[in-house]
Amino acid sequence: MSVTPETLYDEVQAAIARYPTRRGAMLPALHLTQEAYGWLSPEALVACGDAIGFSPAYCQAVASFYDMFFLEPVGTHVIDVCTNLACALCGAGEVLEAFERELGVDVGGTTDDGAITLRKAECLGGCSWAPVVAVDERYRERVTPDDVPQIVSETRSAAAVRHA
Ligand code: FES
Repeated sequence: MSVTPETLYDEVQAAIARYPTRRGAMLPALHLTQEAYGWLSPEALVACGDAIGFSPAYCQAVASFYDMFFLEPVGTHVIDVCTNLACALCGAGEVLEAFERELGVDVGGTTDDGAITLRKAECLGGCSWAPVVAVDERYRERVTPDDVPQIVSETRSAAAVRHA
């Protein structure tokens, strides 16, 4: 069952119960909030803070440390292209350019239909399989520019996993 703004409070309480302290449940609470709202808007951060018992500013401060939390609106799907050293040496720059061409957006942008946001990422932890691209947090490995049209096509037709 997916989390909604209406069920967020109870879901966060259930998460808190699995940790020794409320603070320990902060990352699950942020994940649940992002699932409920799509991104961590000011409204969402207030709801998160109410549920976990910390200020919205504290929730935002924690979220700002992690790439997987969105403090700006994003598309239904998010494609992260790792451009860190190992991936850069294996052609990540060309892969990123291919995504920009295929999607018609610059890095950091979202397609006009709101379907896909393209981002650059720091090391995704898959250096041995560089270049790595994360599509809604599912990794694609040894990606080449020729793979990009197929990845975009599959992503557009996939069910939304972030904003169910
Ligand atoms: S540098 Fe890209 S996954 Fe590590």
